[in-house]
Amino acid sequence: MSSTQLTFKRILVNKAIQSDGKPSLSHFRTITVTEPVPELKDNEVFLKNLSFGHDVYIIYTFDEGETEARVRGYAISRVLESKNPNLPKGSLIFAPSFWEEYTHLHEEEFVRQAFALDQHKGYAQYKDRIPLASYNGILGMSGFTAWGSIETLASQAKPGQVVYVPSAAGTLGQLVGQLFKRKGVKVIGSAGTQAKIDYLTQELGFDFVFNYKEHSDKKAILQEALTKLGATGLDFYYDLMADETVDIALELLNARGRVISVGYLSNKLLDQEPYAIKQYIQILVKELTVAGYFVWEHYDLLPRFFEEFVPLVAEGQIKYKESVIDNAELEQVAESYVEFIQGKHTGKLSVNLASAK
Ligand SMILES: NC(=O)c1ccc[n+]([C@@H]2O[C@H](COP(=O)([O-])OP(=O)(O)OC[C@H]3O[C@@H](n4cnc5c(N)ncnc54)[C@H](OP(=O)(O)O)[C@@H]3O)[C@@H](O)[C@H]2O)c1
Repeated sequence: MSSTQLTFKRILVNKAIQSDGKPSLSHFRTITVTEPVPELKDNEVFLKNLSFGHDVYIIYTFDEGETEARVRGYAISRVLESKNPNLPKGSLIFAPSFWEEYTHLHEEEFVRQAFALDQHKGYAQYKDRIPLASYNGILGMSGFTAWGSIETLASQAKPGQVVYVPSAAGTLGQLVGQLFKRKGVKVIGSAGTQAKIDYLTQELGFDFVFNYKEHSDKKAILQEALTKLGATGLDFYYDLMADETVDIALELLNARGRVISVGYLSNKLLDQEPYAIKQYIQILVKELTVAGYFVWEHYDLLPRFFEEFVPLVAEGQIKYKESVIDNAELEQVAESYVEFIQGKHTGKLSVNLASAK
């Protein structure tokens, strides 16, 4: 055991989130601990966490039966000590981590997912144009999911084809629409406010966006959109909702069209039954494909993602909105997460720690 002791802050989650899925500050507490710097085994690293990125799913990582635990969340961190040749000492990494100032990353699964940002050449090349926190958002899991799912499941998309992206103004929706546009695909989207609709159509160039709150007959408005775009049906439905919209999409998809299943935004309550598909028969008669995409299964694509996607972002070819809290104390990671879940920030939210400086 190393004799060097380190005193630092850590956030604990101390009760399960209730079935409304909304955490409050009372779920978290910040403690100060004094622990020895760990003696590393092969592949392990010891990190100083610099910037945390918030994700909705964090509230689901508190295991049933646990009374108190560290909070899991993605972070950008500096490697202080390393026994992992892929994550050398001194490098900046993006990895699953914990809401604490220092982390001993030893879980096999977490180490496998860690990626050294400064090992890819685009990092140095575009460092001045891309804030570090963007590696939590557009260049982190959100961007990687959008890019990877399209690379993997829509590489065959052709100019003139049509996709419907339901939560078009969400973090993924905005990126997915832009990536389809780059392939010449016409993009139909839906969003909840006129401001979002204006942004999607005027700034991002989406072809037809409707307010889903004002159109209870979604099939009718989608048919209207298709007519306006001179199309007979959809070629892709990029599903971020997992709700009844999938049945409408199955009906409107052209023969050999594709559902790309990525999100479950309709899940507002933890004990909610998932929506059950009724138009299953359409898959058979139109030879449709329904394909799921889970980002954690595609880490092999990460180097190519950085190589191809970073220049697009740095050169402004992909637009995005995200929020950053700078110079924060660790306590603010929990506080801002509660606000993030309440929808108080635009796009992805990152928290840069003051102790990182
Ligand atoms: N498969 C994977 O590997 C993977 C990876 C990352 C994320 N995900 C999942 O993908 C989903 C989307 O993630 P995200 O980061 O894009 O979420 P997000 O940024 O939180 O987006 C949510 C958006 O959904 C919109 N929305 C909510 N209900 C809607 C409805 N009925 N119709 C249309 N829009 C609606 C809201 O916009 P309005 O204000 O316009 O309503 C909001 O902007 C989540 O379920 C997430 O867990 C999956």
